[in-house]
Amino acid sequence: MSLFRKKDLSLMLAQAEDGGKGLKRTLGAGNLVALGVGAIIGAGLFVRTAAAAGQAAGPAVTLSFIIAAIGCAFAGLCYAEFAAMIPISGSAYAYSYVTMGETVAWIIGWALIMEYALGAATVSIAWSEYLNKLLGGSIPYEWSHSPFESVTDTAGVIHHGIMNAPSLVILLLLTLLLIKGTQESAIVNAVIVFIKVAIVIIFIVLGWQFIKPENHTPYFIPADQPPLLDASGKIVADYSGVFKHGWGGVLGGAAIVFFAFIGFDAVSTAAQEAKNPKRDMPIGILGSLVVCTILYILFGHVLTGVANWKDFVDPLKGREASVAYAISNYMTGYGWLATAVTVAILAGFSSVILVMLMGQSRVFFSMANDGLLPKVFSDLHPKYRTPYKSNWILFAFVGGFAAFVPGSVAGDLTSFGTLFAFVLVSAGIWILRVKSPEMERPFKTPLVPLVPILGAVICLAMIFALDAQTLKVAFGWMILGLVVYFVYSRKHSKLN
Ligand code: ALA
Repeated sequence: MSLFRKKDLSLMLAQAEDGGKGLKRTLGAGNLVALGVGAIIGAGLFVRTAAAAGQAAGPAVTLSFIIAAIGCAFAGLCYAEFAAMIPISGSAYAYSYVTMGETVAWIIGWALIMEYALGAATVSIAWSEYLNKLLGGSIPYEWSHSPFESVTDTAGVIHHGIMNAPSLVILLLLTLLLIKGTQESAIVNAVIVFIKVAIVIIFIVLGWQFIKPENHTPYFIPADQPPLLDASGKIVADYSGVFKHGWGGVLGGAAIVFFAFIGFDAVSTAAQEAKNPKRDMPIGILGSLVVCTILYILFGHVLTGVANWKDFVDPLKGREASVAYAISNYMTGYGWLATAVTVAILAGFSSVILVMLMGQSRVFFSMANDGLLPKVFSDLHPKYRTPYKSNWILFAFVGGFAAFVPGSVAGDLTSFGTLFAFVLVSAGIWILRVKSPEMERPFKTPLVPLVPILGAVICLAMIFALDAQTLKVAFGWMILGLVVYFVYSRKHSKLN
């Protein structure tokens, strides 16, 4: 049995046709852009912009956004070709099954668990931060943080996290919603997108007048920047590493804010519902990227201008709920905005978590249908017709991360998984062009192989700019995946 055995493309397309029954082609370009923006704007913008500025890029986080966006645009062009050509759920996992074979498909599927499951965990942790902010900090530190986190309060008392309980609550509520099959209708999605985008624009416009030029000078973190300490004298940020200051810091920042772009690939899962996939998939994928990039750059400019980037590593200042912190501390007279922003952010996060949990269960569903995962992941609820067992297993898994792992760790692993998938999708486009040039491609990625090569290279660079610790954990996760594949999945594959 070859390591590179592939699923037949015509079989795949037949399945897509089959799955397509009952799905109506109702989504136009505008709907697809809204879908993308709905899945994209979330914790990446509202939490990790400040983290990237504080830990690596300083005010030059705006440049980090540009680099991350360029990597995403190249990968996005490749996604667009696949999405128009193989309009089937399962996204990158499904594309690679026909192009690079089962082993690579499995590896991508395994990496996508990092993207979607850990992505949901990261956003639920961010949700917990902002909920606590809304409640005036009344949730005890111990019950809203992982055991790996601690803080020294102003009285000098050290608090250790026990578990992040609020994140479990939101995950439970959304899991129940998913099991009931409550789909975000186009209207609900549009409303949330409208609120999210409105809040971002309001913050940019109102915050602009509070920008202090001294917060933007110097624009890059200097190479001789001493470490920053918390109240107890513990180092909370060290800038000596290559990716922690100067241009290297901009790249390090790009790897952190990359999280803010995750989700545009979710547009590709709606390929079967697009009215005119040939024209509209690229517009949906690339259009949502463009809209978000512009908003992100302006947002990063205002946030680091209103509050100093050093505030964003201090646990007693703006390390958590940074946007609300900046507004309440530096934008005099706009206290109401901090509350409005917090409420909007909570709603916005919920939709991102929902899309991620749904995306994960779809990938599991495809993998179980192919025999690579146990059937329990594709069992449907007798009444609601949703993969409810899969949803419960996912709740336990995602909840475990959300409750006990720090948000930055889960977030970095999410970025790893997604970047990894982007690299393989980019490679896949080139491979398929060489191997099956005759296939009908409603949308063609321009300048192949230049665009896929640049996409893969930029995404690889961002992978290497991630923390050494993150890379070790991610590597361990991928090895575990290979063990599962050879012990279980390969033997149970339907290709046998
Ligand atoms: N891009 C999504 C977010 O930032 C995952 O929350």
